[in-house]
Amino acid sequence: MAWLRRCGGFFMLCIAVMLAVPVTGHAETGAAGWLRYAAIRNPETLRRDQALPAGVVLLDRSPVPLSAEQELVRGVRSMLDRTLRIDDTLPEEDAFVLGTASEIEGALPQARAGTLQPESFSLSVVHAHGHAYWVIEGGDARGVLYGTFRLLAKMGTEQDLAMLHDSESPSAPIRWVNQWDNIDGSIERGYAGRSIFFDNGAVREDVSRTGEYARLLASVGIDGCTVNNVNASPKMLSPEMIGGLARIADEFRPWGVRLSISVALNSPQTLGGLSTFDPLNPQVIAWWQSRVDALYAQIPDFGGFVVKADSEGQPGPSQYGRTPADAANMLARMLKPHGGILLYRAFVYNHHLDWNDMKADRARAAYDIFHPLDGKFEDNVVVQIKYGPIDFQVREPVSPIFAGLRKTSEAIELQVTQEYTGQAHHAVFLIPLWKESLDFDLHADNRSTTVASIVEGKAFHHALGGFVGVANVGLDANWMGHPLSMANLYGFGRLAWNPELTSAAIAEEWTRLTFSNNPEVASTVDGILLHSWHAYEGYTGSLGIGTLTDILHAHYGPGIESAERNGWGQWFRADHQGVGMDRTVATGTGYIGQYPPEVAKRYESLATMPDSLLLFFHHVPWNYRLHNGQTVIQYTYNAHYAGAEEAAQFMTDWKRLDGLIDDERYQKVLDLLIYQSGHAVVWRDAVCNWAKSMSGIPDDRGRVGHYPDRIEAENMKLTGYTVVDVTPPETASGAKGVVCEGQASCMAETVFHGASGWYDLGVEYFDYRSGDSTFRVFLNQQLIGEWTADNTLPAERMNGDTSSRKTLDGIPLRTGDTIRIEGTPDGNEPAPLDYIAVDRIVSRTDKAAGSNSPDAAQTKH
Ligand code: GCU
Repeated sequence: MAWLRRCGGFFMLCIAVMLAVPVTGHAETGAAGWLRYAAIRNPETLRRDQALPAGVVLLDRSPVPLSAEQELVRGVRSMLDRTLRIDDTLPEEDAFVLGTASEIEGALPQARAGTLQPESFSLSVVHAHGHAYWVIEGGDARGVLYGTFRLLAKMGTEQDLAMLHDSESPSAPIRWVNQWDNIDGSIERGYAGRSIFFDNGAVREDVSRTGEYARLLASVGIDGCTVNNVNASPKMLSPEMIGGLARIADEFRPWGVRLSISVALNSPQTLGGLSTFDPLNPQVIAWWQSRVDALYAQIPDFGGFVVKADSEGQPGPSQYGRTPADAANMLARMLKPHGGILLYRAFVYNHHLDWNDMKADRARAAYDIFHPLDGKFEDNVVVQIKYGPIDFQVREPVSPIFAGLRKTSEAIELQVTQEYTGQAHHAVFLIPLWKESLDFDLHADNRSTTVASIVEGKAFHHALGGFVGVANVGLDANWMGHPLSMANLYGFGRLAWNPELTSAAIAEEWTRLTFSNNPEVASTVDGILLHSWHAYEGYTGSLGIGTLTDILHAHYGPGIESAERNGWGQWFRADHQGVGMDRTVATGTGYIGQYPPEVAKRYESLATMPDSLLLFFHHVPWNYRLHNGQTVIQYTYNAHYAGAEEAAQFMTDWKRLDGLIDDERYQKVLDLLIYQSGHAVVWRDAVCNWAKSMSGIPDDRGRVGHYPDRIEAENMKLTGYTVVDVTPPETASGAKGVVCEGQASCMAETVFHGASGWYDLGVEYFDYRSGDSTFRVFLNQQLIGEWTADNTLPAERMNGDTSSRKTLDGIPLRTGDTIRIEGTPDGNEPAPLDYIAVDRIVSRTDKAAGSNSPDAAQTKH
């Protein structure tokens, strides 16, 4: 147990302290997410709680309001240790009263809140017949549920309920998540285990997790879930699959979540056996109609289809000379009588672009393809648009097509799963990134048209619109892999409900509900969350260059030049002279001309170009001076060092929570933050060394390429280990590492020549997806560290994905000591090593403890 570990040598004293202080740390897996309903300990809140009613009456006993009633009972019992009595009619005493507008009207006319739109709610305390009725009134059944969750969240965050009076409406009708689950049970870009929906080609036998997921979604107002990959299997439309989907829909229904699926446009051919999938062919149309009929026969509240077509190898209407509108409308017309909608993704581009063509530009694709079709879509078609024109990068400008569709409904696609943003190994709170897109004012028609107002349907009076989050939760207990990643799912729902909410407000709510109302906990977690995106941007890809990850493989660690010289079009065109894509109208690809004039003008001119996006829009020399006064190259160095330092700070900050939250989540997050701070250094060094060799310009602070504290494995005395080149070279220190092949175990040994003192000893090694090599570190003959490389990182070789650091804190080193690492390979993983870093501890008073003598220190150790 962590507390026992923390007791160290002061066991008796510690026991005494433990007895005096209430124990907060019990194990939690994270499965409850933000719906933990932790006991409310704040005495002030407890006093308020005396006034809470003891009973609840539900005026509508249909499934969704029933969930609301059960949730209220569950939440109050868990938070306040009281069991609400369930009444059938309005009792002659204080009570919670739940119902839709017409029911409230009948039972308690004094309480009517005025007109409530579907899915809206109002919360109020009404005094009638001498009693206080806590009314949760919904514009419809979902509204009752959303209102109940809101009230419970207010209790859970210890808000003052004395003057309860709140009325809320969702920003837009579409608040969906997409899951990229494959029917074999894997998840494309999923980082939390296997699918909760599918296994082995069919819907799972046990779909209970899907109901729990729907409850989480409903609690933040999400009303739809597309359960399978946008790279869809035609088998999704088979009769057996539809039967399975109906079972998932049954789990979703009590939570007001509508099920939808992604469909492959060639399904009539591959599944239906037709010779064509031309969307205008009558047989094709008849085939789709039969599938839509079959779906609605079993799932009457089926939400609709999501379509990815003519994109990254997916079949599409272009094969028959048809447009996206032809394909979308054909399906939309069938869905319409049932209230279904058709989301057609604007992520359509040619991934075989000619890199030598200076006018070729992937970013142009969505506008070039969809703008001419504006006004040609049925009114239940929604074009689903990623926030930026490329692909979920750490920073992108907003996609200009948002302003290019005046007569077509639009939804913004955000990515909750952290594909390009650390893949649930790095803590990256994405709400500030999304807010920047949503708040961006495209200034269409010379008036304010923020992206939020466009997708809400307000700016251009669209019939529909909204928010889609690619969520990709998995079977892992905590849904998203990294406990802090759940803040992104929570935040997606909250922003979709109300894009005006601030990042800080969302972070605070989530932290209080997920961890604790303790101010120390709240401020520490919020601090990490709110700084995490900038830190990640700092150590991965700054100035709008893109994430700089390996775009050809895992999209995880540094793989800088993988973006160049191929057809994928994620180019940044770096050479010895300069860096950045010229997307200007004057000399570049003309992409900037796709924005409304005011925005285009701002981006076209270097004088008004924001630094943060410079390299997305302009090609500039490495020594070009930014508005912030630094050159591009020096800023690149500085940002990467600052980002890595911030990541290290997160780890230090988190340690403040030891004992303030449960041990299990404390330790899990700590381990991840330790890993992140090491991987941030891998990123920093890879990008900085690459930029230095590309530009030929050294770091004016002398850091890049100079690592006096490092001892390279290839320079150590090796027994069994052999030296190998690492590609790309910048992903290993000195471009080389060592591997233990054909041996039971190998050794790398070095003599420490530095000054005697206390040090943190970092061992940089590579941890492949498979294989669990073990490492043992000896100081002279003494074993000082041992671990297994059992992380599941997304590569099977030495590179920026797998480079990892183990730090042994507080090691007393004397000049002349021998440091020896023993590596034992496992499977295909040859216990690979890169270097060791000996980092002097300057200000650790607890370690120095009155004596600077390493002799004294070493005997103590
Ligand atoms: C990214 C991602 C793919 C995904 C695609 C999409 O390119 O890497 O896995 O299929 O986006 O959004 O369609």
